[in-house]
Amino acid sequence: MALKIQKDFNLSRFNTFGVPAKAKEFVEISGIEDLLLLRNYLKANPDLPFLILGAGSDVLFKGDFQGLVAHMGIQGLDFLEETDEFSFVKAYAGENWHSFVRRMLDSGHLGFENLAMIPGTVGAAPVQNIGAYGLEIAERIENVECFDLVTGEFKNLSTQECDFRYRDSIFKKKENNKLVIVSVTFKIPKQYEPCVGYRELASEIEANRIVHITASDVYACVTSLRKRKLPDPTRVGNAGSFFKNPIVDKEKLNQLLEQNPSMIFYPLAGGRYKLSAAWLIDNSGLKGIRLGDVGVWDKQPLVLVNYGQARGVDVFDLAQEVKYRVKNCFGVRLEPEVVILG
Ligand code: EPU
Repeated sequence: MALKIQKDFNLSRFNTFGVPAKAKEFVEISGIEDLLLLRNYLKANPDLPFLILGAGSDVLFKGDFQGLVAHMGIQGLDFLEETDEFSFVKAYAGENWHSFVRRMLDSGHLGFENLAMIPGTVGAAPVQNIGAYGLEIAERIENVECFDLVTGEFKNLSTQECDFRYRDSIFKKKENNKLVIVSVTFKIPKQYEPCVGYRELASEIEANRIVHITASDVYACVTSLRKRKLPDPTRVGNAGSFFKNPIVDKEKLNQLLEQNPSMIFYPLAGGRYKLSAAWLIDNSGLKGIRLGDVGVWDKQPLVLVNYGQARGVDVFDLAQEVKYRVKNCFGVRLEPEVVILG
C-alpha cells in the first residue's frame, strides 16, 4: 500500500474561514498504517514543510501552503475499564468534537456540556486546550496518545507532559509539529457536578428558572448562548476567537483601570490578570466594522469573519488593524489564538 498524495489540493473545505488556499500536497490519514507510510514519505522528503490538520477551525491560511498537509481522519471510540469513581473513554483524533460531546451526554458520560458546539475535532481539542463557559478540556484529559513522525514511536503523554495552559500546550510549539495526536483518553467523574460558575452561563440558567441543574440543562444553555453570540462557520466563515485574552501584571491593570473603571478583568493565580480582548476591541470602536468581505462580528468582537469572498490576507490585514488600534487605545498587545499559515 502507498500513500495517496494529491497535488495542488484546494483547502477551501478544510478551513472554517472558508478562504481560498492550496496545499502543494495533501494526504488523508485513515488509519495507523497511513501514519507509518507518512513517516517514510517525510523521511524521504526531509525539507518538505508539513502540517497536520483536523477540521481547520483554528487556522488562517494567509496564502498557499508550500508543503504537505495531512488530514487526520482516524475515527472511533473505545469505552475503557472503569473505576468506582471514573469512566475512561478513548476517542480517536478524527472524531468531530461536537458529536463526541453529544454522544457522551447521551451515554451518561457527563461533564463535557460546557464545551458543546466548539467547531473542530477531538485531536485538535488538546492542541490549544479548548475552553468555554468555565471549563478547559485539560480538566477532563487522562492522557494523549501521539505518534512521533521523527522517531516512529507511539507514546502516551500525561496532562503534565502536555503542559496545558490557557489556550496552549506543547502541541502548539513549532518543534513538535511532527507529533501527531492519534487519540485522547478522557477521565470522566461518575459523580456529576455541574460547572456553572461562569457569569454568562449562570445568568442563562437563572433566566430559564432552572433549579436542579442537569447536564442536559447545561448543554441547552451553552448551545443557546453560542447560537446567539457566535457566527455559524457553515454560514459565515470564522475560526472562533481570533485573539487570546491578554494577561497583564497589577501595575498595567491599575493604570488601565484609572482611565477605564468599567474595564473587565479576571484575577489569575500569581498576581496576574486576564483582560477581556472582546471588551478592548469593542472599546476601540471596532465592533461590527466591515471592510469589503471581512469584518469584526458585532455580537462577539473577538471573532473575525469572512462574509463571502475574502482572501486569507484580507482577514490577516484586518487582524493587524485590530491589533494596532487596541495597542494605540490601551497599550495592550493582542496575540492571535488562531494559527496563521502560508
Ligand atoms: N464583551 C464586550 N463587548 C462585546 C462582547 C463581549 O465588552 O461586544 C465583554 C463582555 O462583557 C463579556 C466579556 O467580553 O462579559 C467576555 O465575553 P465572553 O463571555 O464571550 O468570553 P470571551 O473571554 O470573549 C472566551 C473564549 C471563547 C469562549 C468564551 C465563553 C478566548 C480567547 N475565548 O471568550 O472561546 O467561547 O470565553 O467561555 O478565551 C474560542 O476560543 O474560539 C472561543 C470562542
